Amino acid sequence: MTRRSQHWFGAEGRSGMLYRSWMRNQGFGPEVFDGRPVIGIASTWSELAPCNAHLDRVADAVKRGVWMAGGFPLVFPVMSTGETLLRPTAMLYRNMLAMQAEELIRANPLDGVVLLSGCDKTTPGLLMGAASVDLPAVMVTGGPMLNGKFRGQDVGSGTHVWKFEAEIKAGRMSVEDGYVAEGCMARSNGHCMTMGTASTMACLAEALGMQLPGSATWPAVDSRRYEVAQEAGKRIVAMVEEDLKPSQIMTRAAFENAIRANAAIGGSTNAIVHLTALAGRLGVDLPLDDFDALARDVPTIVDLMPSGRFLMEDFCYAGGLPVVLNQLDQAGLVNPGALTVTGRTLRENVQTAVNWNTEVIRPMTEPLQPAGTGTAILRGNLAPNGAVIKQSAASPALMRHTGRALVFDSPEDYHAVCDDDDLDVTPDDVLIIRGAGPKGYPGMPEVANVPLPAKLLRAGVTDMVRISDGRMSGTGFGTVVLHVSPEAAVGGPLALVRTGDRVALDVPNRSLTLLVPDEELEKRRADWTPRLHEDVGGYRWLYREHVLGADDGADFGFLRGGRGSDVPRDSH
Ligand code: FES
Ligand code: MG
Repeated sequence: MTRRSQHWFGAEGRSGMLYRSWMRNQGFGPEVFDGRPVIGIASTWSELAPCNAHLDRVADAVKRGVWMAGGFPLVFPVMSTGETLLRPTAMLYRNMLAMQAEELIRANPLDGVVLLSGCDKTTPGLLMGAASVDLPAVMVTGGPMLNGKFRGQDVGSGTHVWKFEAEIKAGRMSVEDGYVAEGCMARSNGHCMTMGTASTMACLAEALGMQLPGSATWPAVDSRRYEVAQEAGKRIVAMVEEDLKPSQIMTRAAFENAIRANAAIGGSTNAIVHLTALAGRLGVDLPLDDFDALARDVPTIVDLMPSGRFLMEDFCYAGGLPVVLNQLDQAGLVNPGALTVTGRTLRENVQTAVNWNTEVIRPMTEPLQPAGTGTAILRGNLAPNGAVIKQSAASPALMRHTGRALVFDSPEDYHAVCDDDDLDVTPDDVLIIRGAGPKGYPGMPEVANVPLPAKLLRAGVTDMVRISDGRMSGTGFGTVVLHVSPEAAVGGPLALVRTGDRVALDVPNRSLTLLVPDEELEKRRADWTPRLHEDVGGYRWLYREHVLGADDGADFGFLRGGRGSDVPRDSH
């Protein structure tokens, strides 16, 4: 079989000369064109995505491995999305990243690809793009930052931002101490070291079988991060020989494993949106309710912030995700035969994993949270297409709660009044933050876990029910109902709620109900007019035009499915 790359580098005549000659300006000798596997290293390196700013060094380690195994490595940049700087939200650009990765992999003389990611959206974005091409692919995430250390205390990126914000607002921490804490939270290269979305997606890439065992947890600055990257470089060359493709790895069984792993690690709610979008690329049927049904019998056994106490370094040294997968396997909670990038099954990869710290990774019999208390999918007249709540990060006392709605059409509307002493609010109220869905914001930002009103914080209130069509940072916490679908901007029932209505949250029964008679809601619907956005054109137009709801993973409709790796027509 002629390798794909040989359609370029092995070509005769003028075309072959064009394809080879320009590559030689980098000093490659002619032997790199001899038919060896050409391996693309898709890098989301960027200094504007601080979590990925070291990926150039990770790429060097991957290259070493590719050369060692007889391949020809070529690094290429794809769009990088950093959570912290990108406005209005990095999520607006996940699909663009996926599109770039897909198109660049297909348009170039590549036989296989190594995906370098880190910050939240970069992992699903690259996996989605690679899935739609379906050339052999292995992921290497950049690894978490070292544990944050502030005045003798471990502090977690993200999680402690919300905590310190509340402390400062309540007058228990000075603004100056907050500045000091900033530097102590982020003290090395790497992504958030809480079980936020980046760590979650790194673990789920491993649970899906798309990265090497143990690869999710090595800190970004640990020498073993570079060793595993080198190993991935070696392995991708073999995967090309074996023609082992993402579609053989990311099967329905693999997604089930990922959902269960997510429950066991207390992972981010964002995983639901990303796994849904990814499954859509592969034609794997993964309805929202499966996230609830599959997670229900899985206890949370990893004691990491935001749900628990520890951080990714601790998880790594305890043995990392292989220990979790092994414990799940022994409890009969994963599909052990799922194929992985090693060419072996999940069980073969993890069966010798040892738990070195049973405080960090609990035994199944002494979990952090019992089975059934993980992330739940809610339905009801307020969320006909579903909503999400992470119970492990919420308050048990609020799992059944009925309260008066206090409605805000945007996060800005809430922020404008949340510090007012005369704001009419009680701890029993339910804050509704709408207009934060995929089309509404646009981009479905992480704004749902708004801080509590200042006067309640000062009174010692620590949690309230909040409901939104937006998302929450994976590092966030609180009793927050997320991803309400359909979103308000498309006329979902969330758009019809008015301040003073009563809303009932019943997590044990998985329901979210607006206690307003149907006839009244119909009247309101007749009066409802969409808040039209100014048409700004460009990518934001494309996004609003084509983005699907949260229940479909907020992918673009036209990007669902795969488009293969056929060699495109000649360029000259
Ligand atoms: Fe990049 Fe958290 S901000 S991983
Ligand atoms: Mg995030």
